[in-house]
Amino acid sequence: MTSYADLGLVNTVELFKKAVSGGYALPAYNFNNLEQLQAIIQACVETKSPVILQVSSGARKYANQNLLKNMARGAVEYAHELGRDIPIVLNLDHGNSFELCKDCIESGFSSVMIDGSHFSYEENVALTKKVCEFAHSRKDYVSVEGELGILAGVEDDVSSEHSHYTQPEEVEDFVKKTGVDSLAISIGTSHGRAKFKPAQCTRDANGVLIPPPLRFDILEEIEKKIPGFPIVLHGASSVPPEYVEIIEKYGGRLSDSVGIPEDQLRRAAKSAVCKINIDSDGRLAMTAVIRRILAEKPEEFDPRNILGPAREELKKLYARKNIHVLGSAERA
Ligand code: G3H
Ligand code: 13P
Ligand code: ZN
Repeated sequence: MTSYADLGLVNTVELFKKAVSGGYALPAYNFNNLEQLQAIIQACVETKSPVILQVSSGARKYANQNLLKNMARGAVEYAHELGRDIPIVLNLDHGNSFELCKDCIESGFSSVMIDGSHFSYEENVALTKKVCEFAHSRKDYVSVEGELGILAGVEDDVSSEHSHYTQPEEVEDFVKKTGVDSLAISIGTSHGRAKFKPAQCTRDANGVLIPPPLRFDILEEIEKKIPGFPIVLHGASSVPPEYVEIIEKYGGRLSDSVGIPEDQLRRAAKSAVCKINIDSDGRLAMTAVIRRILAEKPEEFDPRNILGPAREELKKLYARKNIHVLGSAERA
């Protein structure tokens, strides 16, 4: 059994307090491999931002939980070597059972998400409470994120055709009964690179899809019910058109891609939203560069010369998010 404190990691409690009062959000970036982790740490050290590293069930299957955990431990040392001891959280993304959360907690994660949003309200409360009781009784307090409301799109093994917005009248009861440390809500974001169907969008003069705005009215209602309580936004990639264009130019097919506009995320980050999850944008950035290099340099076969530039683009993307979208730069 390993405690996260021994790995140099921290939980989210103090970080969220500061983020809510400071009007910014922490970046929660998913990682599955070395280059993604290097890019995240380089960007967060350079912009002096705290960071939440996320491991999904998909990442556990792809890369092995123990390897990922030890990479996170290495990331603490890597940040130090790069010149700044930024706070680093290791979070299980979309945990779907008590056993999975327990396993991650015992192996050194400093935070877990228990996503009971697909269960009935009562089942969600019971499962989330059970995870909180276990996580909070550890020698080093492990923070827990719960979820109310359902995001459309694919969440690991679970996929939903339609979103169900969080009901503000449930949040106070949920937080009180479960003891959760933060709450993921559904106000119109969704997972993946095609967050809305074209029929849900309008189009600008150039035919580019314009998504419907986030439901800030629901967010405000939630904030009234649980003032200052840490809120989390999943599915918050912006799906930059420039990456989609490069991918399609070099043979990819990503029709009807549309994300959440960055100005809306910036507005959310200034509220009690203190954690913003971004994964798809990183995938697009890497794929764009990889496709371009493979097309333009057919003689190239050293993965370092393909993944290295992809890592550089990823780092630029994350640094820009920290500075201009989340407001987390200069907070570490
Ligand atoms: O919430 C979904 C994340 O983007 C993780 O996706 O299960 O494909 O790693 P993944
Ligand atoms: P995106 O698909 O919008 O990047 O969302 C990622 C996420 O919510 C991970 O939990
Ligand atoms: Zn998510």
